[in-house]
This record gives sequence, structure tokens and C-alpha cells, in this order.
Amino acid sequence: MGILYLLFLATCAISAIVGLLAFYFTRSSKSMPKTFSELKSEIHWQYHGVRGLIEDTILKRNNRVDLFDNEGKVAVITGGNRGIGLRVVEKLLKCDITVIMGVRNPEEAKENVERLVDIDSIKGKIYYEKLDTGSMHSVRKFANVVQSKFPKINILINNAGIMASPFKLTEDGFESQFAVNYLGHFLLTHLLLPQLKAAGTKEFNSRIVNVSSCVHLLGKINFDDIHGKEYYYPPVAYNQSKLAQVIFTRYLQKILNKNEDNNIQIYAVHPGVVDTDLFCHSSTTYIPWFKKLFFKTPEEGSRTVTYAAISPRLEGKGGSYLSNCTLVKISSLAKDLSLGEKFFKFTCSMLDIDDFFRP
Ligand SMILES: NC(=O)c1ccc[n+]([C@@H]2O[C@H](COP(=O)([O-])OP(=O)(O)OC[C@H]3O[C@@H](n4cnc5c(N)ncnc54)[C@H](OP(=O)(O)O)[C@@H]3O)[C@@H](O)[C@H]2O)c1
Repeated sequence: MGILYLLFLATCAISAIVGLLAFYFTRSSKSMPKTFSELKSEIHWQYHGVRGLIEDTILKRNNRVDLFDNEGKVAVITGGNRGIGLRVVEKLLKCDITVIMGVRNPEEAKENVERLVDIDSIKGKIYYEKLDTGSMHSVRKFANVVQSKFPKINILINNAGIMASPFKLTEDGFESQFAVNYLGHFLLTHLLLPQLKAAGTKEFNSRIVNVSSCVHLLGKINFDDIHGKEYYYPPVAYNQSKLAQVIFTRYLQKILNKNEDNNIQIYAVHPGVVDTDLFCHSSTTYIPWFKKLFFKTPEEGSRTVTYAAISPRLEGKGGSYLSNCTLVKISSLAKDLSLGEKFFKFTCSMLDIDDFFRP
């Protein structure tokens, strides 16, 4: 039965790829592949998406998180007003964790939470603060507000993200996916490090969770044209931003481990292939039935993220990458510590950070 289902899934997925490619040439808002290399990137991307769907099916039983009382803990999450983040917020609140949501529109976030979250099951408190992870000025402002209210932060979830968006430079002159998905979170982690250090103990380390993606495996860091000014293909820029998060995860944990007083663990997570608005620049928008049938729901997508944030089973396993609440294969580029060091310094200089450990 299981094999038949997988075969069925694979057949549907292949038909979908063909259908999607056809759609690319007609109705989608996504950039069309214009060269052979872009077509190759596109096919690799879709293939990885299908692999992700199959992995989600195979590891479905592992995709579980036990919620338990974490009274007194404080979590910061970027995004969280919709999609996977909203369901992570719901789970954290159920654990009696105080949650600070960094969102572009706090009013709208409040409305969404009150409308979509099961308020009766909630114990924790919630705060809505303004944050645009694509603006380094906004990240600094948000960090100031958080620091002034909370001397200790137990959990930081770097969740906000955009995927395959058309080429755009932010107000800081950074490519938008790289800025929103990676640079804003790198800066936020740097600024909140003292509060994370203050909250961590030997028994329960503070946690940083970088919500990455399985397509980080396709990513490359293009040091010569990091913002895609000379060449830009949206999925390639997304892969780069998601690989950047995993390299950061791995390398930061390595440095933090050098000082045994740093009780902080950092994880990267693939939430699964999840039916959310993230796919707005994808042709899957035109086949909602496919997403409904095969993609995870946002609730299912929130489980691995929450698991990385609270599960005692992950103590001491910082620097790792998870999918379906299971430790899985990481890109070989992320394991390369000399690349990690080079990229870490490169990012610090881009953001004018003299010493990452002294905000
Ligand atoms: N869905 C999947 O299959 C999948 C797979 C792998 C990885 N992921 C990752 O999971 C994370 C969550 O994605 P999702 O699927 O939940 O997508 P989503 O439903 O589109 O939600 C994205 C979230 O990011 C926020 N956001 C976007 N740009 C922002 C900015 N500049 N500043 C602050 N917040 C911003 C959005 O807030 P607004 O409402 O203000 O736009 C929203 O809360 C992303 O990092 C994504 O890359 C998702």
C-alpha cells in the first residue's frame, strides 16, 4: 500500500512538474526560465520539491512534537502573523511561553491571531511589535524595543521569509530574498545575543531556530555577485539565502561552543513542503487541489520548528539541521568551516558589524 501510494505520488508529481513548466510559459507571475541554465535550475528546484514531498510522506510518523509547560520562558519570532509561523505561535502560547511577534503589520497580526488561533487553549502572553526583516534600520529598532522589555530571551525563531520573488534591491541596497531571509536574521541574532546568553542555562540552553528549506541543498554562495546585480534568477537567489542560513547555523554553533558559558544552541529547520502563501510566485497557485492533497498543512509545517525550539531531546545537538523532527543531511558546503568563516566575516562586513559577540 505504502509503495503504491509513493508511486502514485511520484506520478502525480512528475505530471505536476510538466504542467507547472507549461504554466510558467503562460500564466504564472514567476520569472520564466530564459536560458538552458535557468531551465536546469528550475527542473532541479522542482525535483527537490518532489523529493521534499516524498520525504514528508516517508517521515510523516516522526513529525510530532510534545507540547509541555514552559512557564516563564520568552520567545521572539519573526513573521508569525500567517502561514507556518502563526501555528508555531499557537503552539508556543499553549506551552505558556510569552511570545513577541516581529511583524510588518502589528494590527493585522493581532486580528489574525484572535481570528485563527484557539484562544481558549492559550496560556502564554503575546506582544506584537513592528519589524521588517528586509530593513536593517527596522531590525535595529525592533531589537531595541525587545531589549528594553525583556532582559532574557529563551528562544529566537528566525521564520520570516519570501520565495522566488522578482529582482528587487532593499533600501540598504541588498537583494530582497537575501536581506529578508538571511541578513535581517543574522543582524537580529547578533543584537539579541546578550539576552539569549542571559537566559541560557546548562539544563536548558537558549535556542535559535533558523527556518531554512530543503532547497538549501541546491544553494551556492556567489561571493562575486551576492545581490544578483549581474545575474538574477529568483529560485537561485532563494536557494542561496536558505543555504546562507544553514552555513550561519553551523558556523555560529562552532564559535559558541568555544566558550562553555555560552548556553545557546542553534538549529536550522526544513518545515516540510507546506501549503502557504509562500508559493505566490509559483505556478502551484493555479493548482490548489494539488497543494491541498499533497502539501503539509501550516499546522503540520509548524511541528519541526516548534520541536527545534523546545524539545529536550535536542539538547547538545546544536548546529544540526532537521526535517520532520528528525536530524537529516546537511549541505556539504555548510560543513565546510573555512567557507563558514569566510562567509561569516563577509556578512559582518556587509552589515558593519565589528565584533559579532559585542553588539
Ligand atoms: N511553505 C513551505 O513549503 C516552506 C518550505 C521550506 C521553508 N519554508 C520557510 O518557512 C518560513 C515561513 O514561510 P511560510 O510558508 O509560512 O510563508 P508565508 O505564509 O508566506 O509567511 C511568510 C511570513 O514571513 C513574513 N514576512 C515576509 N517578509 C517579511 C519582512 N520583510 N519582514 C517581516 N516579515 C516578513 C510574512 O509577513 P507578512 O504578512 O507581513 O508578509 C509572513 O508572516 C519561510 O522562511 C520559508 O522560507 C517554507
